[in-house]
Amino acid sequence: MHRSEGLPVWASAPHRHPPETQRLNTNPPSVPLILRLSKEGCPPQEGAEHDTRLPLPRWPAYRPDYNDRTHKGGVPMAPKPDYGLDAPGDVGKFFVAGLILTGVGVLVARWRAWRKAALAAVAAGGWLLGIAALLVLSSRVGKLRERDRLLDNIELRGHERVLDVGCGRGLLLNGAAKRLTDGHAVGVDIWSTIDQSGNSPDALLANVSAEGVTESVSPTSGDIRWLPFADGSFDVVLSSLVLHNISDQTQRSQAVREIARVLKVGGRLAIADLAHTHQYAATLRDAGWTDVHQSTPHFFIFPPVRVVTGTKPA
Ligand SMILES: C[S@@+](CC[C@H](N)C(=O)[O-])C[C@H]1O[C@@H](n2cnc3c(N)ncnc32)[C@H](O)[C@@H]1O
Repeated sequence: MHRSEGLPVWASAPHRHPPETQRLNTNPPSVPLILRLSKEGCPPQEGAEHDTRLPLPRWPAYRPDYNDRTHKGGVPMAPKPDYGLDAPGDVGKFFVAGLILTGVGVLVARWRAWRKAALAAVAAGGWLLGIAALLVLSSRVGKLRERDRLLDNIELRGHERVLDVGCGRGLLLNGAAKRLTDGHAVGVDIWSTIDQSGNSPDALLANVSAEGVTESVSPTSGDIRWLPFADGSFDVVLSSLVLHNISDQTQRSQAVREIARVLKVGGRLAIADLAHTHQYAATLRDAGWTDVHQSTPHFFIFPPVRVVTGTKPA
C-alpha cells in the first residue's frame, strides 16, 4: 500500500509546507509531527509564516484508531505477536471473587457490628485481586523473561532440530526458532483454550508470521503422552508450563519418557513447570539418565517455576 493512501493530500506533500515544517517532515514518521504543528486539525499553508491565527481551511480531524494494529499514521505495520493469557478461567475466577469480596466488605463496613467481618472481606478480596494481577503479569511479562533465560541456558548452536512440547501460541517455539540458522523448530500441542486464551494452530501461525520465523517453524497437533515422532528425532526438547496440566501421575511420567524417547543420544531437554518437577527428574533418573538437574525456583513466573534440564545418555 502506498504510504499516503487514506491521508489528506497535505500529509504526503512536504513541498506544500513552510521550510520549518519541511525540515521536520523529512524525518519519518512525518504525519504526527505535522499534526502537532497545526492547530485544530488544520494543515500549515503554503508560504505562511506558520501563524496559527490565519484563517486556515479546516480539514477533517485526524483521529487515529488506537485499536488498529495494522497501520500507524497510514503506514502498514507488522502485526504484533500475542501470546495470550495462561489459565484464563482461573484468572477470571480470582478477579471476580476478589471484586465481589471487596465490594461486599465495603458495603458491610457501614454497620459497626460488622466492621471486623468487612475488613476481613476487603483483605481477602484484595488478596485475590492481587493474585489475578500477578497471573496476568506473569503471562504478559514474566514468561517472556523466563523464556529468554531458559533459551540462554540451553545455548542453541543454530543447526539443531528443536521440539517444543505444548507450544501453545508459540512463545518458546518462536524464541527458539529465532536462535536457529539452518536448524528447525517443531511445535506440538492439543491447543487447549482452558490452558491458554485463544489457543489454536491459527493463533500460533499468526505469531510465527509476526515474529518472521515462518521458514524455521512447523506446528503439529499431538498429545505429549503419545508424541507423533520417531525415536531420536530431535537434538533439543523444550517445554514450558505444560506437563502439570496432566492430572494423572503415571501419565505425567509417560509424557517425560516420550520426551526422552524422541531425543537423540546426547540430545538435551529443558522442562519448566510450576509443579511436579521433582517427579520429572526422578523419571529421567529411573530411565538411566545421570546428567539431570532441577533448578531452584524462578520467580519471573507466578506461581514460580523450576526447570529440569538433562542430557540423554548413550
Ligand atoms: C499454559 S499453556 C503454555 C503454552 C506454552 N508452552 C507457553 O509457555 O506459552 C499449556 C499448553 O499445554 C498444552 N497441553 C496441555 N496438555 C497437553 C497434552 N496432553 N499434550 C499436548 N499439549 C498439551 C495446552 O494446549 C497449552 O497450549
